[in-house]
Amino acid sequence: MSEPVLSARDIIVDYPGYPPLRAVAGVSLDIHAGEVVGLVGESGCGKSTLARVLCGLLKPTAGEVVYLGRTLKPIGVAGQKVANTGIQMVFQDPGSSLNPRRRVGPQIQDGLDAAKRRLGGEGAAGAPTSPGDWLERIGMNADDVNRFPGSLSGGQRQRIATARALAAAPDVLIGDEPISALDASTQARLAYVMSSLTLAQGAGMLFVSHDLAIVRLIADRLLVMYQGHIVERGPAEEIWADPRHPYTQALLGAIPLADGAGRLPAVTPPGTHYPLTEAIR
Ligand SMILES: Nc1ncnc2c1ncn2[C@@H]1O[C@H](COP(=O)(O)OP(=O)(O)O)[C@@H](O)[C@H]1O
Ligand SMILES: [Mg+2]
Repeated sequence: MSEPVLSARDIIVDYPGYPPLRAVAGVSLDIHAGEVVGLVGESGCGKSTLARVLCGLLKPTAGEVVYLGRTLKPIGVAGQKVANTGIQMVFQDPGSSLNPRRRVGPQIQDGLDAAKRRLGGEGAAGAPTSPGDWLERIGMNADDVNRFPGSLSGGQRQRIATARALAAAPDVLIGDEPISALDASTQARLAYVMSSLTLAQGAGMLFVSHDLAIVRLIADRLLVMYQGHIVERGPAEEIWADPRHPYTQALLGAIPLADGAGRLPAVTPPGTHYPLTEAIR
């Protein structure tokens, strides 16, 4: 396989407190161009913390992130802002990724401008070159450029957030529960649109979710996270057919219990402890 575009090496994140809370407890992973990696695990296991480290929004307590062969410096570090636009993120709540007071068009233009600054020239080859073209690519109307995020549905806002992220021609798109706030009928469709457009650009994707049913639709590989550790990883089909770690088995077994919103209940009953060591596949 080619060199990974994004790697995490022995990432540890402690949040301050007495005692500190270890949200990520030594995670290493690789994301390659042209693949969708699903990061799954129940709420609170550390997925968002890890995702924020991977895109440079959060400095890990220990370990490093390597982006295109170089150590990724967190976004506050001078000179990093342009380089880091090659790692784009779409959050669960579009309110935190879109500015409610700006029209949609200029926000997508921000992505296009980021690509031009980073790559020079016209940005990414073969990608739409205007916000209106991006809207059509993502399944909306070109004249939605004049709308404000507040006048759009949740699904449409996530489409805009995706368009803006992809307009920046990222090498990696990280989606942190990007579909979880949407109604069930919209979730699968949007997950598919996000992943297929990402792959069409030749980028890699990390798709973070607690909903394995959706992840199964789009992920080539899975990372199963439990209490800050990756406890199982491998090709999605193999894990689906033959989960080795007891936590993965519980997670897969919980799928039929999903409620109408496509969410899973917590799969770890109080008092249950699964091993923190990674299953050997
Ligand atoms: N900013 C923070 N300060 C302190 N603790 C945090 C913070 N963010 C998350 N946590 C804690 O870290 C753990 C992992 O959280 P998070 O990464 O959000 O998990 P997930 O995305 O899998 O739900 C949880 O116990 C959470 O309460
Ligand atoms: Mg989260």
